[in-house]
Amino acid sequence: MDAAQQMDRQYRYQRYVYDLSRKYYLLGRDALLNEMDVQPGETVLEIGCGTARNLTKLAYRYPSVKLYGIDASRMMLDTARDKLRGTLYERNITLRQGLAGQVSHHDFGLEKPFDHIVFSYVLSMIPGWQGALEHALHILKPGGCLHVVDFSDQQTMPPWFRRVLLQWLDWFHVHPDPDVPCYLEQLADRERDQLRMRQLAGRYALLAHYQKGGISDDHQPELPQIPQYLDF
Ligand SMILES: C[S@@+](CC[C@H](N)C(=O)[O-])C[C@H]1O[C@@H](n2cnc3c(N)ncnc32)[C@H](O)[C@@H]1O
Repeated sequence: MDAAQQMDRQYRYQRYVYDLSRKYYLLGRDALLNEMDVQPGETVLEIGCGTARNLTKLAYRYPSVKLYGIDASRMMLDTARDKLRGTLYERNITLRQGLAGQVSHHDFGLEKPFDHIVFSYVLSMIPGWQGALEHALHILKPGGCLHVVDFSDQQTMPPWFRRVLLQWLDWFHVHPDPDVPCYLEQLADRERDQLRMRQLAGRYALLAHYQKGGISDDHQPELPQIPQYLDF
């Protein structure tokens, strides 16, 4: 069974309760979105966009930005399209079925690489996540940013909690790798890129912003708050 079939099988029924159920344990997604600095006219790709939960929030915040999403699962994308149909966000969000290691800006008819690429709780579902990150760097413009949020190593939490969490995630084909931060650091060193990374909620989750070619600390944008009715 290939990755697309596996994901369709996994999300066939879960997609109907996905947004509601994941709200409580995919921590740090809003923090990641809040920290992104997207300029008018830029492009954002989310790899493994699922039900387009993150893309919808970005579309609200950045009405002049073109947003793109790929996902291995056609069924998740069907749910995303159903959700977007008839909304103000529909025209700014383009969705395609595809795999992390193969997507290109050409798939969306774009001539230039993306300005931002988001990996939100998807690296832990990709067996070759290192390859997916390196591929993303190829389809990111110089100066562009990769934004990553995922499960971390839970090292400050009780061992029993970590054991139960990992067992439970395993049932959903989610396998967080504690090497992600180290790999990102080595990648940034090797490519002379810049990395901002932090742990959240007792190392439950990891959040990283990786800039190809350097990040400026002095530009901290004022961003509108996302309203309550989009808090799913
Ligand atoms: C846990 S969900 C996260 C969805 C969304 N990013 C969010 O934060 O709500 C992971 C998604 O990644 C997709 N996925 C898993 N492996 C993938 C791959 N190799 N390429 C593209 N998408 C993948 C799954 O189908 C699923 O929709």
